[in-house]
Amino acid sequence: MTFETFYQEMQEKLKNVVPEPEIFIKAEIAWEINKLKIEKNAVILGHNYMEAALFHSIPDHVGDSLGLSRIAAETDKDIIVFCGVRFMAETAKILNPKKTVLLPAKKAGCSLAESITAQDVRDLRERFPGVPVVTYVNTYADVKAESDICCTSANAKAVVESLNTDTVIFLPDEYLAGNVAKETGKHIIFPTRTKRANDSLLDVQLIGWHGRCEVHEQFTVKDIEDIRAQYPDVAILAHPECSPEVVAASDFASSTTAMIRYVEESNAPQYLLLTECAMGDNIAAANPDKNMLGLCRVRCPHMNEITLEDTLDSLQNMRYVIEIPEDIRIRAERAVQRMIEIG
Ligand code: 13P
Ligand code: SF4
Repeated sequence: MTFETFYQEMQEKLKNVVPEPEIFIKAEIAWEINKLKIEKNAVILGHNYMEAALFHSIPDHVGDSLGLSRIAAETDKDIIVFCGVRFMAETAKILNPKKTVLLPAKKAGCSLAESITAQDVRDLRERFPGVPVVTYVNTYADVKAESDICCTSANAKAVVESLNTDTVIFLPDEYLAGNVAKETGKHIIFPTRTKRANDSLLDVQLIGWHGRCEVHEQFTVKDIEDIRAQYPDVAILAHPECSPEVVAASDFASSTTAMIRYVEESNAPQYLLLTECAMGDNIAAANPDKNMLGLCRVRCPHMNEITLEDTLDSLQNMRYVIEIPEDIRIRAERAVQRMIEIG
């Protein structure tokens, strides 16, 4: 393919979501990245929250946390460039340790991953001995290493149900835990950071933590009521990191890839996504016939750190390399692998 054809394809796809002068600049950078990717035998994975020009130009695979983990585990390329946030790149390294995993930004954190430490998990285990620990993949490797099994938004219910226990510790997303509790019929408590005299498991089935996604916690039931007043037939899709009240008032809730599939396979007059802004643009670019309400106001600052410029720099200068101490990696791998086996 020539650069002209590549640029025209990007233009065609992005014309309604990216300003025209920007498309040319981004196409030039993406073209360089794609050449370098082949030279260096690299694969680029792009999370569904990447900005539209990046999402539609350089990834070999796009998807949600679960889908990209699976691909990372199976790739035979020498280098995995993860266009997503740090915990995702770490998961790739956990599953495929012989590969060089690059994250194109130094930090690219996540408010959920920052909300809990490995010591917090050890303390909870001591307070609730014998209770299995499920951690959301939006955590760092040392926290995963303290867990029995991981989950993503795509499989949280199945993972909790697979344990066949009355009580589960579910960390660290308070809202995802609330949504899973509703789906599984389990009820949830949030222990304080210190042990209390009346800690008891008698009526406790899902023990949560006070982590929240700084993006999804911003959506309210009032937002939904206002939109429905204006667009009575709108289909509203929420990510399960939104509060249980917001999820209950929406028409559908699941992982980012399941939300995309829902839009592609249904026929509502308009769609509103209660999730990271970029995803609406990505769907609009790929499905020009769908009416995506562009009322989104929340961009994840961590996902936003990943740019085309930084991805080029990442491949040119081999940075930032993800390293995980082997003892932590092996224990974290057990928890992630156990999740992948469930599906
Ligand atoms: P998914 O696993 O649904 O892609 O979500 C990841 C995430 O960070 C949502 O905020
Ligand atoms: Fe973390 Fe929320 Fe950003 Fe997802 S959207 S990476 S959960 S801060």
